[in-house]
Amino acid sequence: METVGIESKTRVQQLEEKIRSRTARVGIVGLGYVGLPLGVEFARAGFTVTGIDVGENKVAAVNSGESYVLDVPVETLRPLVKERRLSATTDFAAVADLDTINICVPTPLRKTKDPDMSYIDAACREIAKYLHPGMLIILESTTYPGTTDEFVLPMLEKSGLKVGRDFFLCFSPERVDPGNPKYQTKNIPKVVGGITPECTRIGSLLYEQALERVVPVSSTKVAEMVKLLENTFRMINIGLANEMALMCDRMGINVWEVIDAAATKPFGFMPFYPGPGLGGHCIPIDPFYLSWKTRQAGIEARFIELAGYINGAMPMFVVDKVQNALNDHTKPLRGSHVHIMGVAYKKDIDDLRESPALDIMHLLQKRGARVSYSDPLIPRVSVDGLDLRAEDAVKMAAEADCVVIVTDHSAFDYAAVVNQARLIVDTRNALKGYTSEKIVRL
Ligand SMILES: NC(=O)c1ccc[n+]([C@@H]2O[C@H](COP(=O)([O-])OP(=O)(O)OC[C@H]3O[C@@H](n4cnc5c(N)ncnc54)[C@H](O)[C@@H]3O)[C@@H](O)[C@H]2O)c1
Repeated sequence: METVGIESKTRVQQLEEKIRSRTARVGIVGLGYVGLPLGVEFARAGFTVTGIDVGENKVAAVNSGESYVLDVPVETLRPLVKERRLSATTDFAAVADLDTINICVPTPLRKTKDPDMSYIDAACREIAKYLHPGMLIILESTTYPGTTDEFVLPMLEKSGLKVGRDFFLCFSPERVDPGNPKYQTKNIPKVVGGITPECTRIGSLLYEQALERVVPVSSTKVAEMVKLLENTFRMINIGLANEMALMCDRMGINVWEVIDAAATKPFGFMPFYPGPGLGGHCIPIDPFYLSWKTRQAGIEARFIELAGYINGAMPMFVVDKVQNALNDHTKPLRGSHVHIMGVAYKKDIDDLRESPALDIMHLLQKRGARVSYSDPLIPRVSVDGLDLRAEDAVKMAAEADCVVIVTDHSAFDYAAVVNQARLIVDTRNALKGYTSEKIVRL
């Protein structure tokens, strides 16, 4: 027993030393919107970073210094690759040479709205094959509370190694907000919770080398729940803003003006805005990880279900709005040309995942409209088997029977669009300040 205690102590000390001297070899599993910026921050802090991804294209891109994530400029990535601070591979055998691993693989929902754990499962199976004493593993993928200790830990301990003694395991929620110019991976405080206090300490130490602020918490479950609280908070408040929009619409009140005026209250109010529906890999998905888990504990997450219902109905509301607006112009939706401005799920990013624009385009096509779209960041979109290419917004505004602003990218020339269009449905208040009979607001 004594020897085991001493051995594990030296193991911790050795890892600690490697982390402090930044000679620890850092691994990132999953080089997407989360993993690539994180890997870059570790490399910038002086670590040698190996990214592991199943996508050959991404691996090839990283190794040739090409960035496919808007928040990672090529000017930042290229020197790191050139200096061999950052490289990528599809081969999990690389784990054998790593000291730490951050897992950043997707956590989508199945069609039934149950968590799809297959990516975490696949990544952990591979890691377990090469897990060796003295390693630190941190799960960053957003997931239900209990994933790290109930799902990941048993997979890793099958190797015969013991957590807290032979290896260290933490959960650290990823809070990155793609496209946010003020808060990026480096300056967003990082919450970390470990399986044991030693795990938390070592996990925190790693992040402290590369990020500005680390917030240790007492367990992996707390860390998992922090992320779900944050995203559920957003989802429910957006749901409230959307319900307000539905009420205001019925009563002929401008919801945007209401929210702007309410936001002048210096305490106890925080503005959230309505829109065409939720999108992205986080807000529409994460809360359902929580409701799935709480259902097993016999508690229904009623706020989440209700907000999900309201937010999910927004694309249909937008399509009804377009149909009614066209009707007021004595045009049926069937056969009309409707032009969608912006298909990314939010402004100034190139991410189409779960975008409400896809639902809106699908519903419009189903009702017989001819649909085109423009988006400076997304060149092609496929809806209902139709392969569409991005068009010029101003040109299309002149041709279409109705323009729908779904995503308010900064690059659009709104003045020219207002000038050219016959009818505009604005779901984002992008045309705030414009007064024209042809503008219909959410
Ligand atoms: N995108 C965001 O804004 C954001 C913000 C906070 C948290 N998150 C969470 O972070 C996680 C990752 O999200 P993302 O947006 O970076 O996803 P992503 O799809 O952009 O990237 C995930 C990467 O993992 C790779 N991958 C899939 N299976 C793998 C496997 N078995 N082994 C190795 N690589 C594998 C994919 O090829 C892909 O490159 C998710 O849990 C998400 O909820 C995302």
